[in-house]
Amino acid sequence: LSTSGIAQGLEVPQYVASQIVRPQGHVDEQSLYEAYRWLRDNNPLAKVEVEGYDPVWLVSKHSDIMEIERQPEIFTSGGGENPGSHNPKFHDKASDEFSRSLTGGSLRTLDSLPYMDSTEHTAVKDIANAWFRPAGLKAWEEDIRALARNSIVSLRPGANDLDFVEDFARPYPLRVIMSLFGIPPEDEPTMTKLTQDFFGIAETETLKSDDEPLSPDVVARRWNATIQDFYSYFDTFIEDRRANPRDDVATVIANARQDDGEYFPKKYAYGWFIAIATAGHDTTSSTLAGIIEQLALHPEELARFQNEPERIPDLINEGLRYVSPVKHFARQATTDYVLNGQTVKKGDRFMLLYQSANRDTDIFEEPDQFDPTRRPNKHIAFGYGPHMCIGQHLAKLELRIMLEELLPLIGSLEIIGDRQVIQTNFVGGLKKLPVRLVRK
Ligand code: HEM
Repeated sequence: LSTSGIAQGLEVPQYVASQIVRPQGHVDEQSLYEAYRWLRDNNPLAKVEVEGYDPVWLVSKHSDIMEIERQPEIFTSGGGENPGSHNPKFHDKASDEFSRSLTGGSLRTLDSLPYMDSTEHTAVKDIANAWFRPAGLKAWEEDIRALARNSIVSLRPGANDLDFVEDFARPYPLRVIMSLFGIPPEDEPTMTKLTQDFFGIAETETLKSDDEPLSPDVVARRWNATIQDFYSYFDTFIEDRRANPRDDVATVIANARQDDGEYFPKKYAYGWFIAIATAGHDTTSSTLAGIIEQLALHPEELARFQNEPERIPDLINEGLRYVSPVKHFARQATTDYVLNGQTVKKGDRFMLLYQSANRDTDIFEEPDQFDPTRRPNKHIAFGYGPHMCIGQHLAKLELRIMLEELLPLIGSLEIIGDRQVIQTNFVGGLKKLPVRLVRK
C-alpha cells in the first residue's frame, strides 16, 4: 500500500486521497464519505499528493475551513499579488496547463468572483449584492412561483414515472436564473448551450460525460468560437440594458459604474452572467433532487412537511447540509501560517471540503442521518467569509417555492431505479433519480 500523506496524524492511504481529489472518486458516494470520515478521525488537516495533481492540503474540519475562509489575505482565492496564478478550483495539472494555454498563461479563465481577491472582489461583488438580498428578491417571488407551477403542470393525476433530475430538478432553476437575468425565453436554449460550452471547454476535467477527450486543437478552436458567440450576444444585450433599463439583474450589472464614474469593463458582466448561470443551476437542482430522494426514503418526513409547510425552510437547510452540492473551493497561502497546530507554507494549496465539514461530529450529532428537525444547523454548504455564496437567498427562495407547490400534490413517492451521481470533485450531486410520483 503506497501512502500519499505526510503530516501530523496517520499517513493518508493513497486510496483515501485519491477518492477525494479525483472526480472519479466522487461517483461512489459511500466510499467518498468514508474517506472524509477517515481524514477527520485520523488526519483532519493532511497534505497529500495524488498522481497528476499538485500537492494539496485536504481540509476536512468545519473549524479549519472557517479559519481559512475568514482570512482571505492569508488564504487567497485568485492568487493574491499574482492574479491568475492560483485556480480556486482544484484541477489536475494537465487541466490547469490547458487553461493557461487558452488564456496566455493565466488560470483566471473568467473574470468572475471566485477568481478575485480583496478590493477587486469587493467592488465587483457590490455590483449586485443588494439585488440578491432577501428584500431585493421579494419582488420576484410571484414570478418564481409561476415558473414552479409551470414545471409542475406536466404532472398527470395518478402515477408519473420520471427521472426527477432531468425532468424536474434541472430545468426549473435554469428557467429561474434566465428569467431573473432577463434573457428572453426564445434565447434561453442558445444561452444555455453557450454557457455549457464555455464551462465545459474550460473545465475539461469536470465534463459531465464519459466522452472521449478531443484533441487540444479542436478544443481551442471551439473555445474561441464559443467565446466570440457569447461575447457578441452579450455586447448587444448590455447595450440594450443601458438604453432600456428594466428591473432584471442584467440591468444592474450593465449599468454599474466604477468609482471614477465609468462603466465597469464588460468582462465583468460576462463573468457575472457565467457565474450566475453556472453557480445558480446545478447547485440548486442537486439540492432539490437530494431532498426529494430523502423524502422518498422517509415517507414520514414527507407527511410531516405536507402537514407543516411553514417548516419547509428546515427541510431545505438539512438538504443543503446533507447534499452539499459544492464539494470544494481551493485557496492558496500567501505566507507561512500555523493552522490547527501545523505549519503550512507560503504557496501551499488547500481544498476546503464542505461535504466533510457538514458531517463533522464536532458540530453535528449523527451527521449521516438526514434529520430536518436538526437545530441549530450550522452547515457551511454556502461557504463562509467574503466569498460566501451570493445566491444563497435566491437558492433558498427557489427551493421553498418549489417544495411549497410540489409537496401538496404528492400522494406517494417511490424510487424505482438506480440513482446516478455526477462525476466531479466540484459541483455535483444526482445525475439521475428514477421515481414514481403518484399525484393526489
Ligand atoms: C444550493 C444552492 C447553492 C449552493 C450550495 C452554493 C454554494 C456556494 C459556495 C460553497 C460558494 C463558495 C463560497 C466560499 O468560497 O466561501 C458559492 C459562491 C458563489 N455562488 Fe453559490 N451556491 C448555490 C446557489 C447559487 C445561486 C442560485 C447563485 C446565483 C445567483 C450562486 C452564485 C454564486 C456566486 C456568484 C459565487 C461566488 C461568490 C464569491 O466568490 O464572492 N450560487 N456558492
